Amino acid sequence: MFSFAVFISGNGSNLQAIIDATLNGAIEGKICCVLSNKKEAYGLVRAKKAKIPTVIIEHDNFKKREDFDDALVESLEKYKPDLIVLAGFMRILTPNFIKPYRGKLINIHPSLLPKYPGLNTHQKVIDNNDPEHGVTVHFVDENLDSGPICAQSSMKVKSKDIEELEKSIHKLEHELYPKVIQDFAKGNLKLRKENK
Ligand code: GRF
Repeated sequence: MFSFAVFISGNGSNLQAIIDATLNGAIEGKICCVLSNKKEAYGLVRAKKAKIPTVIIEHDNFKKREDFDDALVESLEKYKPDLIVLAGFMRILTPNFIKPYRGKLINIHPSLLPKYPGLNTHQKVIDNNDPEHGVTVHFVDENLDSGPICAQSSMKVKSKDIEELEKSIHKLEHELYPKVIQDFAKGNLKLRKENK
C-alpha cells in the first residue's frame, strides 16, 4: 500500500486535512509517520489521536543542518515512505535529505510561486494590492520554496484583513494538498527527468 510521511512544525491543520482524506478514501494510502522538529507542535496531538506513529527530532540538538538531515533520513529507514509531505515544516533541508528523496518530496507554500517565496506571504499580497493570492504545491529542490510546481490554486483577494486572508488560504490548502497526494499515489504525478 502507498505510504507517506508528513513533516510538521506546528498546528498541523494541513496534516488534519490529509489524515481526514486518508480516512474517507480521498487518499488511497496511509501515513506511516508524522515527524516534527518541535516537541510542542499541536500536529503531534492530531497524529496521536489518529493513532499514527510520531517521531520527534529537535534540530536544536544538532550542530550542523546536515547532521539533522542525516538523522531524518535514518529515522525514516524503518518506514520506507513512498513520499514525504512537508506540511508547515519550518526547516530548510540540505542535499543530505533532498538527494535521497528527490522526486518523492513535496511542499505546500502559501503563495502563487514563483511570487513570494519565504515568509509573510499574506502581508506581501496586502502591501502590494495584489488582486489574487493562492497556494502552490511543489517538488522540493535545494533552493527555498523553489522546485517544479505540481499544482496551484488561486482566489480573488476580497479582504485586506490578514486573518481572513489566511483563513481562506488555509481552506485552499486543505482542498489542494490531499488531491496532489492522491495524484502522486496513483502515479499521475512525477518529477520529469530533466528536472532531476
Ligand atoms: C501553511 O500555510 C503552509 O502553507 C505553510 O505553513 C502553514 C502550515 O499550517 N508552509 P498548518 O500547520 O498546516 O496549520
